[in-house]
Amino acid sequence: MLSIALPKGRLGEKVYDLFERAGYACPAIREKNRRLIFESRAAGVRYFWVKPSDVAIYVERGAADLGVAGKDILLEYRPDVYELLDLGIGRCRMAVAGKKECDPDMVHNLRVATKFPNIASDYYARLGRDIDVIRLNGSIELAPILGLSDVIVDIVETGATLRENNLEVKSEILPISARLIANKTAYRFRTAQMEQIAQRMKEQVEKQ
Ligand code: PRP
Repeated sequence: MLSIALPKGRLGEKVYDLFERAGYACPAIREKNRRLIFESRAAGVRYFWVKPSDVAIYVERGAADLGVAGKDILLEYRPDVYELLDLGIGRCRMAVAGKKECDPDMVHNLRVATKFPNIASDYYARLGRDIDVIRLNGSIELAPILGLSDVIVDIVETGATLRENNLEVKSEILPISARLIANKTAYRFRTAQMEQIAQRMKEQVEKQ
C-alpha cells in the first residue's frame, strides 16, 4: 500500500479529486468527520491529511511515499524529495508588496517581512541587494501598515488581501502551483507504481 500525504483544506480537496479521477478513490475520505487516515485496499493507497507546510517533511522522512506540496514550500524548505509533476492547481504567485507610497528601490537596507525568509533572501541576493529579513508566521500584510517593515514577500492569489489593506504588488518573484512529490527511497523501490500514478494524474491535469 502506498501512503499519500494530502494538504488539509481547500487545496487538499482539489488534490484528492485529482487522485480520485486518476483511479485512486477512497470514498470514506469524503465523510465529514475528524479522522486523519483513510485506506482503500482496492486502490492500494492510504491517504492522510497533514498541515500543508508539513507535507514535505512527511515525504522527505518516508512517513509518506507521496505527497502534494506547494512550490513555495519546496523552495523555502528545500526538502530532499523528487518532484514528479506540476498539478496545475493551487496557482498563485510569490510577490513583493508594499504601501502605494513606498518605492522599494529608494529604501536602503530594505526591511522585508515574510513567512518565506529563504525565498526572500535568494530573490534579493540575485538582485545584489542587502535586506533585513523579518520572519513572521501570518497576517504578513500588517507589517508594512504598522511600520514593522518596508515591504512583504508573500503569496498573492486573488489579490484581495492586498487590495483591502491598501497595499500593491511591487514586483513578481515567481509563479507557484501544487506539485506531486515522492520520497527518494520509496521511489527507487517502487518506481513503476509511482510513475503510473504520476502518469494517470498527468492525464487528469491535462483534461482540466
Ligand atoms: C495567504 C497569504 C495572503 C493571502 C493571499 O494567507 O499570506 O495573506 O493568502 O490571498 P489573496 O491574494 O487571495 O487575498 P493565508 O490565508 O494563508 O493566511 P496567513 O495570514 O495565516 O498567512
